[in-house]
Amino acid sequence: MKRKVTKAIFPVAGLGTRFLPATKSIPKEIMTLVDRPLIQYAIDEARAAGIKEFIFVTSRGKGALEDYFDNAPVLEQELRKKGKDKLLELLKSTNMESGAIAYIRQHKALGLGHAVWCARRLIANEPFAVILPDDVIAAEKPCLQQMVEAHAETGGCMVAAMEVPPEATSAYGVLDVEEDMGSMVSVRGMVEKPSPEDAPSNLAVIGRYILTPKVLQNLNRIKAGAGGELQLTDAIAEEIRSGRDVYGYRFRGQRFDCGSKAGFLQATVAFGLAREELRDEFAAYLREVVSIPSAAQ
Ligand code: G1P
Repeated sequence: MKRKVTKAIFPVAGLGTRFLPATKSIPKEIMTLVDRPLIQYAIDEARAAGIKEFIFVTSRGKGALEDYFDNAPVLEQELRKKGKDKLLELLKSTNMESGAIAYIRQHKALGLGHAVWCARRLIANEPFAVILPDDVIAAEKPCLQQMVEAHAETGGCMVAAMEVPPEATSAYGVLDVEEDMGSMVSVRGMVEKPSPEDAPSNLAVIGRYILTPKVLQNLNRIKAGAGGELQLTDAIAEEIRSGRDVYGYRFRGQRFDCGSKAGFLQATVAFGLAREELRDEFAAYLREVVSIPSAAQ
């Protein structure tokens, strides 16, 4: 019987230099889309997929993340006293069960593969998920849940995948497709951040993974890859070389690259418009703003 996926690793050790000066004092994962920190979107998605244990790989200066997931009894008491039931509910929905979160420090910035490897002792011998909170995915059925359901049929390793413009491959892990089955592809190779000339396709890895513990063992052996970093992509590609299955899953949903300013702004607009209480006012404002250039013509 296939093991259920109940653990997820959240690599959150990055410096977030693209968002300086904000990230001088706040982790980028605490930056908010409308009123929820990026990390909350990732946690909600993981919970919807049945994840019970949340493993954060952090670094210096990420203390705000730990505080965020702590209960806030004084605040709760205050809201209760004032009868602000809705806010109280909202706050409680972010509380985590005691012992459900673990924090591991990545002592050196040696890459995504290294960050995941840092959590190896908490994973032991079972399949696990990896969620990169920078990739925010708006979807009717949360992306990781789609993948967990697909993975229950296939087993092996699975990565979220999406077609990107051919000139953009050097920002992604890219799949060499063996067989295209529509929403799923079987993979015969993976390359981290290839130039467009070297890319085997334009089907890119997006930050959701379901991996076997073998990948952690591969991380013990492989050498630094693209950018001089230990790459998760290379450790997964090792599985293919060892004759084990790796799949790409074309999720249904819209992905925002919240690791970039433009992507973050796009996500803010999309999530703002998705909120009933904001939609009309915000849409009216956007219409007004975008009509200015044409009015000036
Ligand atoms: C990481 C992975 C890459 C993947 C990307 C998705 O790269 O290494 O394979 O395609 O996330 O967002 P990063 O964006 O951290 O450089």
